Amino acid sequence: MNKIFVYCNLQSSEIKMLKKYFHVNIYNPDKKELSKNDFYKKASGYNGILLQGSEIDKKFLHFNSKNLKAISNVAVGYDNIDIKEATKNKIAVLNTPNVLNNAVADLTIGLLIAIARRICEGDKYIRDGKWKKSSWNLMWGEELYNENLGIVGLGNIGKEVVKRANSFGFNTYYFNRKKLSKATEKKLKVNYLNLDDLLKKSKFIILMLPLNEDSFHLFNKETFQIMRKDSFIINLARGKIINEKDLVEALLKKNIAGAALDVFEFEPKVNKKLLKLNNVVLMPHSGSATKHTRQSMIKLACYNLKNYLINGKTDNLVNKEII
Ligand code: DGY
Repeated sequence: MNKIFVYCNLQSSEIKMLKKYFHVNIYNPDKKELSKNDFYKKASGYNGILLQGSEIDKKFLHFNSKNLKAISNVAVGYDNIDIKEATKNKIAVLNTPNVLNNAVADLTIGLLIAIARRICEGDKYIRDGKWKKSSWNLMWGEELYNENLGIVGLGNIGKEVVKRANSFGFNTYYFNRKKLSKATEKKLKVNYLNLDDLLKKSKFIILMLPLNEDSFHLFNKETFQIMRKDSFIINLARGKIINEKDLVEALLKKNIAGAALDVFEFEPKVNKKLLKLNNVVLMPHSGSATKHTRQSMIKLACYNLKNYLINGKTDNLVNKEII
């Protein structure tokens, strides 16, 4: 029987399922997170690992290359795992796509409206006891209808965002490494623009792309200078796609109008200067955080591991090259 190490908080139905097929060792990081060293010690020597976005680097993979056959990540993104090294050692990396599309798309629109209509600012204004009289000029925000929306990275989640955006009457543009077919563009009512043109044209810019060598710090001093001064950036992808220091500077210098962020460059640490700005809305990496979606992700990740290690199925295998 294969031995697996589970480094996340599992529902009892999934524990039961996994125990039918594997020797299971569960460690719940919600109780006490392991240091990198302790994780190395505890997670080494297994045939499978199930985790939620913890770092799996080259050294760990190399050290475990004899026994380890599969890593199941409870996330759609897999930038926490050194995929090159996993592939070199024929270790399968599995992820949980699609089950989170609706939840992430909902929060994306939520954050866009929150920053455009100053919802958090308004909430704080009332809680701070500052609302003493009605005032015509109070909390004027931005309208969405007929504004230009730019999506950088139009994949499965982005398509759900577009569906929602269409109902607000946005003119939606996108930039992808690969252009969509004309038929898909027509169906979604989106138009392709190169990145610079998208930055120049869009009032709202949503980041939906994966983190990799090409997207690391794609948004930096230069990019913020190309963006419209009245534009807002909304990031639910990965924090490291934005150079956070440059973002703070762009906000302070009013090169852009605001930011709504669900992810951060050094999360859970957040640049202190961001905390002081009114034109910023912050969420603690919660795109997929609904009960329904998080349970679906866990379930899928458990079945990914079982389907791969027991049945040899390769659904949701990220590094197909190992087959
Ligand atoms: C994902 O699935 O990649 C989300 O960001 C949750 O980590």
